[in-house]
Amino acid sequence: MNNTIENIVSLCKRRGFVFQSSDIYGGFSAVYDYGPLGIELKNSIAKLWWKEMTQVHENIVGLDSGILMHPKIWEASGHIGAFHDPLVDCKQCKARFRADDLTEKPEGLNWQVIKCPKCGTTGNLTDPRQFNLMFKTHTGPVEESGTEAYLRPETAQGIYVNYQLVQVAMRLKVPFGIAQIGKAFRNEIIARNFIFRTREFEQMEMQYFVKPGTDDDLLKEWKEKRFQFYPNILGLNEAKIRYHQHGKNELAHYAKEAWDIEYKFPFGWSEIEGIHNRTDFDLSRHQEFSGKNLAYFDQPNNERFLPFIIETSAGLNRTLLAVLVDAYWEDKKNDRVVMRLNPRLAPVKAVICPLVKKGGLPEKAREIVDILKPHFKVLYDQQGSIGKRYYRQDEAGTPFGITVDHQTKEDNTVTLRHRDTQQQDRLSIDQLLPIIQKSI
Ligand code: GAP
Repeated sequence: MNNTIENIVSLCKRRGFVFQSSDIYGGFSAVYDYGPLGIELKNSIAKLWWKEMTQVHENIVGLDSGILMHPKIWEASGHIGAFHDPLVDCKQCKARFRADDLTEKPEGLNWQVIKCPKCGTTGNLTDPRQFNLMFKTHTGPVEESGTEAYLRPETAQGIYVNYQLVQVAMRLKVPFGIAQIGKAFRNEIIARNFIFRTREFEQMEMQYFVKPGTDDDLLKEWKEKRFQFYPNILGLNEAKIRYHQHGKNELAHYAKEAWDIEYKFPFGWSEIEGIHNRTDFDLSRHQEFSGKNLAYFDQPNNERFLPFIIETSAGLNRTLLAVLVDAYWEDKKNDRVVMRLNPRLAPVKAVICPLVKKGGLPEKAREIVDILKPHFKVLYDQQGSIGKRYYRQDEAGTPFGITVDHQTKEDNTVTLRHRDTQQQDRLSIDQLLPIIQKSI
């Protein structure tokens, strides 16, 4: 694993952002648990996405569909037949790779001329073999055929099969969108790079139902809107975000056109979100497999059609990893590590510290906690030297440190420390709430 990623993994464990699943049993590969700070950060990202993708659009509504669905859905969607990863094995060192990690165009290549990235030998790689990524399970008490079900590998299908119910219930007119945040599962054979590629993850997807013929323009519009979300709303460094258009060989089985939004991770440029023109592929397949007419009736023009779908599909965990990577800063001059999280995203907004544990200072500090805690998450800390307390919170990304000292008792003022600059201002207690609120 890359050095910076290793440091971030270790910080995430130390400070309670992310833990390896089943740690006391030696870990469970490619699954992660989110600790107290991680869940706050993940919720903040999801909340901002939800606001951006539902609240500010009058024609986009939300949905929360089940993880388990009728198994026929996955036949119709093409996932049972075509949701594969091409994998290559090295006969020499037994390492296994995703073929598309080794070359952009895995199909039709002579694998005998490619070097194994692990042991460096040539001529030992097998031709790619296809592995289906769907997790299978059973419903009911008996494991037999006919009771098989799948954990969804994308949240999108739950939206497609509910699209007509939502449209009628909410009296929506094309173009309209349905947004959903939820878990998805893929039996990734090669899982690596921390929370970048895991077997259980969360997607934030929006499916936009449009009139055929308007799809190309609307894809362009959504592609631009979604790009802006990362610097403008999450505050990521724009120089580290770019588009990547899928070539013919990369297109998923449902897509006519596809773009990735990529972030420059320490292990290279990699996808955080996909924007796809899925045409009427999904709705026409569900229409065929369910036998139900899924056409939309356009009343003013008195016509019926199957809408095309423009999909924006972001990974919540990958976005969180991009946020962590973007924030990570080794402040060599001051010998500290700082998570320069956007105050809006920071799990804890302020730490409140009495300078010493006596003389009425803890009580005064508790009063400040009581003033601030109805508005945002704060933390009381009286453990250790003040410097150590601040450095702990720098690693947690807490933007403000408030210190209560002897002067506080005399004039009701405190010091407010800013995480990134370490600058400290003296101000009165009643100024704290408006200042912090403004920054978040
Ligand atoms: N509904 C379309 C769809 O699922 P995708 O490109 O396969 O498209 C969309 O996935 C997003 O989901 C990706 O951009 C990524 O952020 C996230 N994602 C996919 N597989 C993942 C995995 N194994 N671990 C974490 N995130 C994943």
